[in-house]
Amino acid sequence: MTTPRPETLAKLTPVLTKRWLSPDAWRIGTYEQLDGYAALRKALKAHPDDLIQLIKDSGLRGRGGAGFPTGLKWGFIPQGDGKPHYLVVNADEGEPGTCKDLPLMTHDPHALVEGVIIASYAIRAARAYIYIRGEAVHAARRLRNAVQEAYDKGYLGRNILRSGYDLELVVHSGAGAYICGEETALLDSLEGFRGQPRLRPPFPATHGLYASPTVVNNVGTIASVPPIVLGGADWWKSMGTEKSSGPMIYSLSGRIANPGQYECSMGVTLRELLELAGGMQPGHNLRFWTPGGSSTPLLAAEHLDVPLDFEGVAAAGSILGTTATQIFSDQDCPVYATYRWLEFYHHESCGKCTPCREGNYWMVRVYRRILAGQGTHEDLDTLLDTCDNILGRSFCGLGDGATSSVTSSLQYFKQDYLDYIEGRTAPKLSEKTLVGAH
Ligand SMILES: Cc1cc2nc3c(=O)[nH]c(=O)nc-3n(C[C@H](O)[C@H](O)[C@H](O)COP(=O)(O)O)c2cc1C
Ligand code: SF4
Repeated sequence: MTTPRPETLAKLTPVLTKRWLSPDAWRIGTYEQLDGYAALRKALKAHPDDLIQLIKDSGLRGRGGAGFPTGLKWGFIPQGDGKPHYLVVNADEGEPGTCKDLPLMTHDPHALVEGVIIASYAIRAARAYIYIRGEAVHAARRLRNAVQEAYDKGYLGRNILRSGYDLELVVHSGAGAYICGEETALLDSLEGFRGQPRLRPPFPATHGLYASPTVVNNVGTIASVPPIVLGGADWWKSMGTEKSSGPMIYSLSGRIANPGQYECSMGVTLRELLELAGGMQPGHNLRFWTPGGSSTPLLAAEHLDVPLDFEGVAAAGSILGTTATQIFSDQDCPVYATYRWLEFYHHESCGKCTPCREGNYWMVRVYRRILAGQGTHEDLDTLLDTCDNILGRSFCGLGDGATSSVTSSLQYFKQDYLDYIEGRTAPKLSEKTLVGAH
């Protein structure tokens, strides 16, 4: 195991994670002792428009995967329209490898609750929802408890801290469908319908929850708001890069010595993250990795020095996504890993549009054939052709994301496919998996 050098340790910038190891960090008393709800007191004295401007000035970009500028999104909410406004926090976190929001809600739920109150005040919402993944029972319990504590202390409900501002906050558990993380499917699910993406435009900013103006933001995005209010836009921008400001929680998993959450200034490299995480496990050499979950194109060992910010990862041909950095070694098979992800996308496809519903179904079958030692060279063309018909032709990002590991693994690791097809690698799947597959 490697020990990080002091200059690499300095890359750690704990802001959202800074309270996680405090005893009883999830209790309101601990939170209040550690700056908790100070940002809310400050925010309630400011004009809502000034708060939106502050978030714009900070350069905060959404932590849910797409990196959309948060202040701009808040500014889209029409004011004086007479309609109710809603804030909906996306706590669905279903992307394979992604695991930054659940620990945040488990260890520091008040950071999210405080962020919700400030964001709702800024967009003039009187009701907010946190839509949390159904399986995340422990995190939901902590969150509900934190919401009750906040009500009891007068941070939620009527006339918050005697400011005249009212807010009701509801924690809603979903039923555990990956598609309900897509913001419009989430809104349908919250309204009690089957979770399927909506046609856009109109966008949620004007026609969101109950056809009213709605902001949907990720947990990490909203939890970033109190520190920005307290520290200011310049302090936030002192971390990260010019267009990707602030700290980011990088979730490292896979073949590394110390998997976990590493909060660093945006733009840190995988080489530095690996040093922080104690290096690779003994006997393993890095071969491929995802920069931001399974929907982002794979990168290889040659990308160790790519800055992990929105621009740097895009320039390397991938997407920063959810910063779920899954590390695979020379003992892992990129063909098999891609097959397992495809099984997931096929299972989670909501079925609304043909390219994703049918394309993933067929690609799973082609992969099974290849992995059972019965693939042909034409199968590789079929995979690329199918991806071509899914990418950009699907109704939502699930379809696009499903193609990422297929096309990138074929780009970097075509030889691994050929080794199965030409019999140099022993089949990984038995022929039984092919029943009904042709
Ligand atoms: C299939 C799919 C699943 C998604 N899952 C999540 C999720 O679990 N959490 C999340 O915050 N965003 C998820 N997103 C992105 C949301 O649609 C949306 O962009 C995000 O919640 C906006 O928040 P932000 O601007 O704070 O990043 C998903 C998108 C797609 C296409
Ligand atoms: S891309 Fe897939 S998940 Fe998205 S709407 Fe189409 S079928 Fe549903």
